[in-house]
Amino acid sequence: MVFGAILAGGSGTRMHISNMPKQFLPLDNKPIIIHTLEKMLMCSKIDVIYIGVNPAWLGYMSDLLEKYDLDIDDKIILVQGGKNRNDTIFNIINDIEKNFGEDEDNIIVTHDAVRPFVTLRILNENIENAITYGACDTVIPAVDTIVMSKDAEQIDNIPDRAMMYQGQTPQTFKIGLLKSLYKQLKPSEKNILTDACKICVMKGAPVKLVRGNSSNIKITTISDYNIAQVIVGGKIVELEENDK
Ligand code: CTP
Repeated sequence: MVFGAILAGGSGTRMHISNMPKQFLPLDNKPIIIHTLEKMLMCSKIDVIYIGVNPAWLGYMSDLLEKYDLDIDDKIILVQGGKNRNDTIFNIINDIEKNFGEDEDNIIVTHDAVRPFVTLRILNENIENAITYGACDTVIPAVDTIVMSKDAEQIDNIPDRAMMYQGQTPQTFKIGLLKSLYKQLKPSEKNILTDACKICVMKGAPVKLVRGNSSNIKITTISDYNIAQVIVGGKIVELEENDK
């Protein structure tokens, strides 16, 4: 089976707003996470969609599904998000195995709730490549030169731009492969992981690249949010920034 996994366990601290996690902010006429969910629902290869939600917002998410007529019991399942992004992924995997049993060829399409502009082509290519290679990551070639600095004061290195990519999501895996690689990591290694594909990279497992799209932005800051509003043709909503 193919499982969608929308990662919505975060609280959006870099947005510096206090009233709600960024995935619930309105984008044109509906919340960001509803746009993202609707994109996944368009993909007929995905059998069931999990949403890993910040625990304090599970009731709110459930009300949103009802409000937007998306409370489809056998298609969309809500689970608690974890303390970091990978924990949210593994909460979802645990629930998949509890409800649907273990099958090492099952596929999980992990996707940030705050990337509402993912396309059907990207979702389909992720699933095809994960079936063939076991793991794949969505990337776009870096357009800016990447500058490395360890102390944020001076340049240590400027890598060859032709070899640099920016990671997006989805990141898609055979569940059996991801689980077995994760089990091999030491607790200290698990703590430094910010990215699910890095689980494969750290253990030397190949990850196929899938071509992303420069519109597949992640809404991280208020400026990203304003760009997203322009993309959907919505009205710019003024957000109050907290003191930083
Ligand atoms: N995410 C998650 N579980 C967590 C942390 C993050 O599912 N414990 C999700 C977020 O909800 C988001 C995606 O991972 O959809 C990408 O992470 P990021 O943009 O860093 O989101 P936040 O953690 O919410 O933002 P910030 O780092 O600014 O606090």
